[in-house]
Amino acid sequence: MKLTQNQIQQYEEEGMLFLPNYFSKTEVSTLQEELSRLPEKTPGQIMEKDNQTVRAVHGVHIHSKVFQNLIQHPLLLEPIQQLLGNSVYLYQFKINMKAAFTGDVWPWHQDYAFWYEEDGMPEPRPVNVGIFLDEVNQFNGPLYLISGSHKEGLIQFDTHRSAVEGKDISWEANVSANLKYCLDNATITRLVERGGIIAPVGCAGSVLFFHSNLAHSSVPNISPYPRRLLLITYNSIENIPRPYGKPRPEFLVSQDYTLLQPLENDVLLQQV
Ligand code: SIN
Ligand code: MN
Repeated sequence: MKLTQNQIQQYEEEGMLFLPNYFSKTEVSTLQEELSRLPEKTPGQIMEKDNQTVRAVHGVHIHSKVFQNLIQHPLLLEPIQQLLGNSVYLYQFKINMKAAFTGDVWPWHQDYAFWYEEDGMPEPRPVNVGIFLDEVNQFNGPLYLISGSHKEGLIQFDTHRSAVEGKDISWEANVSANLKYCLDNATITRLVERGGIIAPVGCAGSVLFFHSNLAHSSVPNISPYPRRLLLITYNSIENIPRPYGKPRPEFLVSQDYTLLQPLENDVLLQQV
């Protein structure tokens, strides 16, 4: 599926593009079933503060043919190649669970702050794709995004050292509710005055493309509805990170630079 010139322009102007009802019900069921088949514990799993609820899982595509097929689905990869060029690889794959009643906050941030600081990524080129695995409504913690904020480039951020102190595994500070690099209130006020907050809602299977410098967040989910969001980040092969020290774990930042090519349209409908 190719984006129209208008859609590309909208992505460039707003830093995001929302496509409601994008995958079919059957395709969504395939993804939900694959998620339910994951082992109870995976290396890239992070818990909420209660230590009982799974907050997110990272890198679970590595052992999943279904998720690998999703990454190369033409509905995703064709638009990605229009936005990023033909030579793209997978940078990150994660599923944020935002569980009913307990799914916690994501403070305001730009993703590129993490990729620049932690991974040594040269440019803010990656495109995020969020796939709704549940209906997202006004109650279950939809993503909040500030339209046009990507045009500011990387904004000065607060580093929350407390997020890492006393932790054995520091990668957790980049994905926990106590996030390491956050935007302060004055910055958010200024950005919102200009662009306003957009909170895309829609049925499972809806898809959101967004820029790596777009300011975003989400509030805790105190509703009875889970809000599982599958996030795939694509990067250009010309923008491979050059970490200063040890690279972050493979489940968080992929070092598999295989170029991705669109598969068949029905790839999620085939038996694997
Ligand atoms: C993210 O910033 O990774 C997503 C936040 C969310 O799932 O609400
Ligand atoms: Mn983010």
